[in-house]
Parts: sequence; C-alpha cells; structure tokens
Amino acid sequence: MQTLILGHDPQGIAAAAELLAQGEPVAIPTETVYGLAGDARDAQAVARIYQAKGRPSFNPLIVHVPDLAAAERIAVFDDAARALAGAFWPGALTMVLPLRPGAGIASLVTAGLDTVAIRVPAHPLAQAVLRAFGGPLAAPSANPSGRISPTAAAHVADPESGLGGRIAAVLDGGACPVGVESTIIGWADGRPALLRPGGIAAQAVEAVLDRPLARPAAQAGAPTAPGQLSSHYAPRASLRLNAQAARPGEVLIGFGPVPAELSLSEAGDLTQAAARLFDLLHRADADGRPIAVAPVPEDGLGAAINDRLRRAAAPR
Ligand code: TXA
Ligand code: MG
Repeated sequence: MQTLILGHDPQGIAAAAELLAQGEPVAIPTETVYGLAGDARDAQAVARIYQAKGRPSFNPLIVHVPDLAAAERIAVFDDAARALAGAFWPGALTMVLPLRPGAGIASLVTAGLDTVAIRVPAHPLAQAVLRAFGGPLAAPSANPSGRISPTAAAHVADPESGLGGRIAAVLDGGACPVGVESTIIGWADGRPALLRPGGIAAQAVEAVLDRPLARPAAQAGAPTAPGQLSSHYAPRASLRLNAQAARPGEVLIGFGPVPAELSLSEAGDLTQAAARLFDLLHRADADGRPIAVAPVPEDGLGAAINDRLRRAAAPR
C-alpha cells in the first residue's frame, strides 16, 4: 500500500473524511501527537488500526469527538467531569468515563470495558476532519506499537520507524504544538486519578477539581491504563537518563544549561521541551548511536516528559 500525504487544505480534509467513511484508518494531526484515526462505530475499521500499529488488542483506544455535546452522547459525565471539560476542552485532556449503553461504539475500541476514554482535540485539522466525517474517531498515537510517538507527518510516513506503506494516508498538519500525549484522568471508586501524565499538568487538573489526584502508577509501580506497558516509546538505540555529558559514541540530548548537539530547550522551557521531545528522539534514533538525555525537572509538563523518557529507557 502506498501512503498518501494529504495537504492541509479543503481537498486534503475531504479526502481524509472520504477514506475514513470507507473504513480506512487515516493519520491526522492533533495538538498532542498524530493519531491513527478510524470510525469508532465500525469494528472492521478499528481492527485495521490495531493491525497497522501491531498493537496488542487488550489495549483500548481514545475516542475523539468535536465537542462536549458529542462526548455526552458516548460517555456519562458527572459534575467533576463536566468541570474538567469546561476547563480543558478542546485540548490535551482525556477522561475515562462510564460508557453510555447503546452509544454505538465498537467493543474493540474499549477492549470490552464498560468505560471509554474520550477527548475533544483542539487542533483545527482534527476538528475539521471530525466535522467533515461526522462521527466519533478512535485514534491511538500513529506509531507502530511500542515505538516513538509521531509529532510530524514525516514521522508517520517513514516506512522504517513509522507506518509508511501500512496505512492509506496521513494528513499533514506540520509539527504538533504540544508534543506529548494527552493527560488521562479516570475515577477509581469516585476518586479522581492520574492514569497518564501528559500535555496538561496534573497540578492544573487538581486546581480545577480542588482536590489532589490519586497517582496509582507511582504508588503501585504497575500499569494503570491498560496501555501503560513499561517499555513504550522505545527508540532502537539504548537510552541513558540524567546524563550530564555524552560518553564516547553517544548522542546527547540536552536541556537547559547542559551543552549538547541537540537540545530539548536551551532556555530550560518545559513547554518547548515537550513539543520537541519526540522529534529529537526520532532524529537521534535515525542517527543510530546510543542516546543520552540530560536531566529534566519533574514539575508541570516535566512529569509527562520524564514519564516518556523513563519508558523509552526501560529494558526491553
Ligand atoms: O494525545 C493523545 O492522547 C493521543 C492523540 C492521538 O489523541 N492518543 C493516544 O492514544 O495517546 P493511545 O492509544 O496511544 O493511548 C491511549 C491510552 C492507552 O494507555 C490506553 O490503555 C488508555 O488510553 N485507555 C483507553 N481506554 C481506556 C479505558 N477505558 N480505561 C483505561 N485506560 C484506557
Ligand atoms: Mg501511544
């Protein structure tokens, strides 16, 4: 299969919506990372997403909708969920909520769970495709399972490290402005919990909820969202964390004052570092040398950056 690169113009958006209507997965830009979208109501389209990614089928997908009204037709919202939607949607927040019976979501999307992960993306092209298509889109990150997430159309289209040749098309929206996946919030026994750190700082969510988030991953050291397998986002080369300098043969990714040939942010800006993270990992990985990364502070978006780096460095 030849992977088409569609331009970010009305024809490109229409072509993406047309392929989606035919049950073909299409990679689309969101503000976080590129997603491999498919009709969330069509089990066969969803199966093609799993197949293209080579993803274990127990790992459920996030459903993307254009607005809160569409989300409420699929999931059951309480006051806390509505408050988070009001504060952060459209944007880099995913909520795991009770699935509304009869919502028409293919059971392969939720891996048979009675909850659904749902998000309203802010990216204008994601919004345009959702509206042109006219239905909910299931979309995991558009990378082969376990590999580095894509933040540019070229990452998706690469036949070696991406999905080139395995999907019909990618809609090119340039670089993703946030650069790390959405923050996932769930409720365990009515208590809000951080299931995955991401593009919205946990502290911002806590401020809206006016209560602390449970952090089950940190407490148990175990996967919480079913997809939180420890080796994830993995480059082919080895990755060493908290490096102050490159050892012989290594490529160093710096942050702040650590001098390096590649830098997440020379100014030490975490927003800039998140936006650059996956692109630099893709570049360092293409280079083939072992990778070392300078320390990144844990506050704000640093939690999501360090989570992705720890997974990339995990034994596999
Ligand atoms: O930013 C993002 O969230 C991107 C863009 C494309 O929207 N999507 C993304 O999807 O990162 P994915 O499939 O790579 O990660 C979805 C995570 C997985 O860890 C999965 O296990 C979890 O969400 N998840 C999905 N449904 C769930 C559910 N019902 N309960 C718990 N976790 C769930
Ligand atoms: Mg992913």
